[in-house]
Amino acid sequence: MATRTQSRSSNRSTSGRSSGSSSSDSRSAFSWGDNAGPMLGAALAGVALGFAANFGRKAVMQGMSAAAGDWDEVLAAEHDATLAIFDKMLATDETQTFRRRMLLTKLCHSLDKHAYEEEMVVYPALREANEAVDADHLEHDHGQMKTFIYELGQMETNAPNWLEKIREFRQLISSHAHMEEEEVFPRFKEGLNEEQNARITSMVNRDGFWMA
Ligand SMILES: [Fe+2]
Ligand SMILES: [Fe+2]
Repeated sequence: MATRTQSRSSNRSTSGRSSGSSSSDSRSAFSWGDNAGPMLGAALAGVALGFAANFGRKAVMQGMSAAAGDWDEVLAAEHDATLAIFDKMLATDETQTFRRRMLLTKLCHSLDKHAYEEEMVVYPALREANEAVDADHLEHDHGQMKTFIYELGQMETNAPNWLEKIREFRQLISSHAHMEEEEVFPRFKEGLNEEQNARITSMVNRDGFWMA
């Protein structure tokens, strides 16, 4: 997503520049009138504040205060948060269609971010450490999760089998998280030195930050 985000913003600025540069006038099409100074200043201050607030929220959500090498704890905390969303879903009944839709959206966002961190950083690092079998197994599970999301997207949230589908989905996530937390990640982490663990943590935080 970092790449997609960056390319989106670079596309925006590129198209802005090309429209403006079509004129040979030194004042581009985007020049503000003489009286626009204070307004522009206020607008920019607003953008800066918005950015700062968003940055702060993302930093908190991404747990950037986590200790330098604790990438596994960052991911385990995300597992817990994801399972908590499932528990809220399982506590709904078929009349709560709006709540179910909201929780499903939240779940998709949370899984998207988490899968990005693992698929772009942790699993490739596992393969680099000759743990390709585990990495492939785990990535295959992620594929099954996407299938669940697809199927839930096709279902009405008041469908009689909605809860059953959520229960099956939770089971998959729970055993996947268990394999990561109890088997694969501890073994992998133990084989890395402090600097390598710190590097993985920083990459996980970076990718999670862009996806938050
Ligand atoms: Fe995973
Ligand atoms: Fe995970």
